[in-house]
Amino acid sequence: MAKANKKTARKAYEFVDHHHDVVVVGAGGSGLRAALGMAEQGLRTACVTKVFPTRSHTVAAQGGIAASLGNMGPDNWQWHLYDTIKGSDWLGDTDAMEYLAREAPASVYELEHYGVPFSRTEEGKIYQRPFGGHTTEYGEGPPVQRTCAAADRTGHAILHTLYGQSLRHNAEFYIEYFAIDLIMSKDGVCTGIIAWNLDDGTIHRFNAKMVVLATGGYGRTYFSATSAHTCTGDGNGMIARAGLPLQDMEFVQFHPTGIYGAGCLITEGARGEGGYLTNSEGERFMERYAPTYKDLASRDVVSRCMTLEIREGRGVGPKGDHIHLHLNHLPPEVLAERLPGISESARIFAGVDLNRDPIPVLPTVHYNMGGIPTNYWGEVLNPTAKDPDRIAPGLMAVGEAACASVHGANRLGSNSLIDLVVFGRAAAIRAGKTIDRDSSIPTPNEVCCEKIMANFDMLRHADGGTPTAELRLTMQTTMQEDAAVFRTDKTLKQGCKRMNAVYSEFSDVKVSDRSMIWNSDLVETIELHNLLVCALPTVYGAAARKESRGAHAHEDYPDRNDKTWRKHTLSTIDAKGKVKLSYRPVKTKPLTTEKEGGIDLKRIAPKARVY
Ligand code: FUM
Repeated sequence: MAKANKKTARKAYEFVDHHHDVVVVGAGGSGLRAALGMAEQGLRTACVTKVFPTRSHTVAAQGGIAASLGNMGPDNWQWHLYDTIKGSDWLGDTDAMEYLAREAPASVYELEHYGVPFSRTEEGKIYQRPFGGHTTEYGEGPPVQRTCAAADRTGHAILHTLYGQSLRHNAEFYIEYFAIDLIMSKDGVCTGIIAWNLDDGTIHRFNAKMVVLATGGYGRTYFSATSAHTCTGDGNGMIARAGLPLQDMEFVQFHPTGIYGAGCLITEGARGEGGYLTNSEGERFMERYAPTYKDLASRDVVSRCMTLEIREGRGVGPKGDHIHLHLNHLPPEVLAERLPGISESARIFAGVDLNRDPIPVLPTVHYNMGGIPTNYWGEVLNPTAKDPDRIAPGLMAVGEAACASVHGANRLGSNSLIDLVVFGRAAAIRAGKTIDRDSSIPTPNEVCCEKIMANFDMLRHADGGTPTAELRLTMQTTMQEDAAVFRTDKTLKQGCKRMNAVYSEFSDVKVSDRSMIWNSDLVETIELHNLLVCALPTVYGAAARKESRGAHAHEDYPDRNDKTWRKHTLSTIDAKGKVKLSYRPVKTKPLTTEKEGGIDLKRIAPKARVY
């Protein structure tokens, strides 16, 4: 940890105590859906968020939310389940994936009834577009239109609606409060969080019967990411500091179409509406790699193909280091109605008029498949070898922070928004059943609180020689270079070594601002620690996994190895940054049998993953 400046360090902080049945940390799509569901049932619910709710990263989700409504043609939840299993490269947990696919339509209709302004078909039904990896007939038929859209601003529409509904049901919001750490009892029960009110500098203890972490992903461990600068893995950091494990951190998704240079997202919906990629020879190269689904193969596949084209000298631009995405053949009215947001982004960030020119794009870090291990009710797991499903009491996690695991080694586009609402809702249903409304709110473990504040105080007075921004940049470039789309033993070994050095340098971090009010220097330093405890297991988990699966493309082990590696990676990290890995079996059994209307087991047996 950081060096404290002894002269200025203080010890005592006063707490403002709050008491709720539930405290939700984070107000993106999953946090709001959980908070709304809890509040609807009359649970006293607090939602603590470091940014204003409608500024959460879900606002940036563009293309849509997957659910087998069948509005544009035949579809069913079993096909959605099959595509999700195949997309996960057989690493996802089958019970959770079934829950997702089954509950998706009801969750989307709920959103519609809450007021989400979905785009409409001629008959007034919710409009659905094709997305990569979503198919008909268990991958044998043509692409399916399964992704429900509100133009290309679906996340924005969902977030605003859920925030309004949460307020309507009296969820209490604590906005611009930064959650520092979990309060854990002596016997390992989570009983709340400590948070810092950035606006007036006060420190708050939220004591609760259940803490729900909905803190999003950790995309900002990398240099180029579509994720907001606020995506710093804060919940994962809190879990790791509480000594609990993270799961499958090595699986980092690169979205094929980040704008070259700026990194902003150009939705997969662009290819869903008919866009296509070309190389320097003007060739639609995806036809060669994925003859059936072409530009609508899954994301990991398209990102790898683009990288190969660039590596083999067929990239576009003066440096031959990116790819072109064409939409200029689409009618201007389609671009205006269905893709207004990316028309604007392409103009602002790439100087491109979509009606005339291709967009320069590059695979860009977009999503973390790994995170806090949970079951499909959102309950956090603290597995042991004997009991891989052991629950960590008092804790839930949902959304990108969590690993349920429905995305396994690779997530399908538009399965993220549906994950947020299905599991936010599931957590609320579960909490409604498990929380004893008559029991008293737990009292905080003072020893734990003191330890949290001593650490906070040490960072506040950190007086080393390395500015936070400098160290963050070293971490981001290391991750970008050594844990990229393609990985090798050599790059990963080097990545572990370099990340160890970055972690050690955190002890020399320098915080210049000692104040308690809007101290962004200190916020960024705590966020950097959260990012570091995500980055280390990412590179260590990747170095240990000697196979290729989903987003983990290991050039020294190009094949998937189900016999040895069809298992989840668990990682814990100690205060010195030492990562310990262990493994947990994948859940291969669906929730229902074929007789009960579930999927035929033969259909979901592992096989080669081709598109
Ligand atoms: O491409 C997109 O619109 C992103 C969607 C997603 O990540 O699910």
